[in-house]
Amino acid sequence: MSDLRKIIIDGQEVEVDGALTLIQACEQAGVEVPRFCYHERLSIAGNCRMCLVEVVGGPPKPAASCAMQVRDVRGGRNGELPEIKTNSPMVKKAREGVMEFLLINHPLDCPIC
Ligand code: FES
Repeated sequence: MSDLRKIIIDGQEVEVDGALTLIQACEQAGVEVPRFCYHERLSIAGNCRMCLVEVVGGPPKPAASCAMQVRDVRGGRNGELPEIKTNSPMVKKAREGVMEFLLINHPLDCPIC
């Protein structure tokens, strides 16, 4: 039995299974979220932090969309639908910070790249 929930992703209202993670819900809505450690056939590691999204009305920090389920996102007090943003200034700044951190800690003589 599925538990369908309505959620707003980047201003677009979609109805998805509550058991999906936010990154999967974004995929269903046609919104691509960058990721490094998430793969649908692997267990969720949630440690690269590249998939951060903003949960409107949630804590004032970005959340890892691969590690949070749709049912965990609460709506507003007045019955507003739960909302996440994948392209807000907070998300952009967080992704830039993650990329900078990864590149700073990457060896210049990396044999792979
Ligand atoms: S994809 Fe790595 S933390 Fe979400």
